[in-house]
Amino acid sequence: MNIKLLFFGDIVGSQGREWVKEYLPRLKRKYQPTFVVANGENSANGRGITEKITKELFEAGIQAITLGNHTWDNKEIFDFIDREERMIRPANFPAGTPGKGITFIKSGEHELAVLNVQGRAFLPPLDCPFLAADQLIEQAKKRTPFIFLDFHAEATSEKQAMGWYTDGRVSAVVGTHTHVQTADERVLPKGTGYLTDVGMCGPADGILGMEREAVMKKFLTQLPVRFEVATGHTQLNAVLFTLERGTGKTLKIQRIRIDNDNPFVE
Ligand SMILES: [Fe+2]
Ligand SMILES: [Fe+2]
Repeated sequence: MNIKLLFFGDIVGSQGREWVKEYLPRLKRKYQPTFVVANGENSANGRGITEKITKELFEAGIQAITLGNHTWDNKEIFDFIDREERMIRPANFPAGTPGKGITFIKSGEHELAVLNVQGRAFLPPLDCPFLAADQLIEQAKKRTPFIFLDFHAEATSEKQAMGWYTDGRVSAVVGTHTHVQTADERVLPKGTGYLTDVGMCGPADGILGMEREAVMKKFLTQLPVRFEVATGHTQLNAVLFTLERGTGKTLKIQRIRIDNDNPFVE
């Protein structure tokens, strides 16, 4: 049997969490993933994450949580980030900041390295994400051939560059952060599965998950506006990788999208 990795894009607010909890058991029945990982940077009402929510997600079956530019939005994170082994933040944050950018999760005899790095095009300046990825990959490959990289970045070009840069060195690299799923999934020539952005799990009719009226007001007036998580329809965006035993290479990559127009088929 091959190894399967299921990854959920940015979980946004309670709607996103509820849908992950509702669909994960069904996705597990259908695809039987070996590993389940999610990006949780917006899971606490759109802003960061709390300890209660990490517990909720782990209980639901998520095995590791990645983060991004919203890592510090909920101040509570400073109380638990250093003791929560299974939650990671981008590795290229300034040296000395709490947390780490790599974790290892086990499933039976198999181990998956989960890596998190953040882009710096149209995002705050950070250390070089490519060199940060090199360091994480060095650490990971000492332990396992199964290596997953969540590259939290805005620019498609930077994400494609990371895909090609790490091709053959990681099992899979996906982008997160834009909240909109791209349709460019592929297996790169040296065996790395790649998707520019996984999309999010959260409100479907807002703007990137936030109330659209507030976002439109911001664009129209340039006045300061407080964004709240949108209500209404929900969507769930994820991706499933089938990895080869032994080599860790991606054999197959499959996007998953559940919403009003794409109901889940058991
Ligand atoms: Fe996000
Ligand atoms: Fe983000």
